[in-house]
Amino acid sequence: NTRTYLIGGNWKSNGTIASLEKLIGEFNGAGPIPANAEVVVGVPAIHIPICLMQLRDDIEIAAQDCSLTGCGAYTGEIAASQLKDMGVTWVILGHSERREGFGMAGEDNELVAKKTKKALEEGLKVMLCIGEKKEEREAGTTMDICAAQLKAVADVLSAEDWANVSNEPVWAIGTGLTATPEMAQETHSQIRQWMSDNVSADVASAVRIQYGGSMKGANAEGLLSQADIDGGLIGGASLTLDFFKCIESVP
Ligand code: G3H
Repeated sequence: NTRTYLIGGNWKSNGTIASLEKLIGEFNGAGPIPANAEVVVGVPAIHIPICLMQLRDDIEIAAQDCSLTGCGAYTGEIAASQLKDMGVTWVILGHSERREGFGMAGEDNELVAKKTKKALEEGLKVMLCIGEKKEEREAGTTMDICAAQLKAVADVLSAEDWANVSNEPVWAIGTGLTATPEMAQETHSQIRQWMSDNVSADVASAVRIQYGGSMKGANAEGLLSQADIDGGLIGGASLTLDFFKCIESVP
């Protein structure tokens, strides 16, 4: 396909100053990034300034969340405008771990949609994550879940705002259970069809659909060679040089 591949890393809530500096050194010394790929890493907020100063320029920086609000009396929040001001260009939104809430109130479809709109308005690019849980896949409702997550966003965005969607089956995240290339391709083609039916044919053909869920160097080539898989959002494997094996697997 002619879409530029989008290879995202998601470091989640990992790392110390020492491990971060080691990883930055390894990434800076790794090979070139193919011309048909864009690479971005989602780093813990506190590590953003170090990455902006030290990480190679051809890897962009993403935050892993942003506030629904602008600046103001919102203790603990980081506004999209502050990220932009700092030099951050991307944000990951709607990650399943944030939707789940890990002991706090999780983010619902409407909140994710509002954050997406806010981040885009402030000039950030968004990796919007969607995906079904294990029991939802087993019940045959994968596309219903993905469609509901997409619809909440489609209800508040204009067609021209759509650029990236990251399909991340929850059962495949951090479990070592990767969707087979065929399973992932089936869902990705259904997501693209949904975009065509509900947003526009032009958006459907241009939108980049990343796959996330135990993607790593050893399986990236099979996934990235599928017609509707336009990149990855890589968790565990992005904390090592294996991330570059995924980058090198771009067709
Ligand atoms: O954002 C990335 C996904 O949660 C995938 O994580 O590669 O560790 O399974 P994982």
